[in-house]
Amino acid sequence: MNEKTLILLKPDAVERNLIGKILSEYERNGLTINDMKYMTASKEITETHYAEHKGKPFFNRLVCYLTRSPIVAVVVAGDNAVSRVRALNGTTNPADSGDNTIRALYGISLSENTVHSSDSVESAKRERAIWFN
Ligand code: TYD
Ligand code: MG
Repeated sequence: MNEKTLILLKPDAVERNLIGKILSEYERNGLTINDMKYMTASKEITETHYAEHKGKPFFNRLVCYLTRSPIVAVVVAGDNAVSRVRALNGTTNPADSGDNTIRALYGISLSENTVHSSDSVESAKRERAIWFN
């Protein structure tokens, strides 16, 4: 089924000039960039985006990281885009992520793992509304 999913290229991706390399992974795998925005995320939008993690021990560090410098918010479209992008990105901890996944290639650590993507079609709808009203 054709889907759209929300990706964030997190601050460490932009800081290390990885925007092109990472976006080309999605395109190379047959997914299409549907919308894109370079921005500095506010604390408010970041806390809304990560509302499910509020109160967890890593939450404040996560918000500090995401707001420290610009990010790129991207909507990617394609057949089963939500699960395909999750697979291309890899697992949350780059140390455990499969070979050639974006997090294995570029992730720095569990807390600085370079990319976000929506975990379900419902999350994708919610997150697209947050970042692209
Ligand atoms: P989560 O939604 O569990 O992972 P994913 O990004 O793979 O959907 O967590 C959101 C982000 O929070 C995750 O990308 C990195 C950070 N995080 C930590 O810093 N420490 C942790 O123990 C976890 C679970 C996540
Ligand atoms: Mg998540």
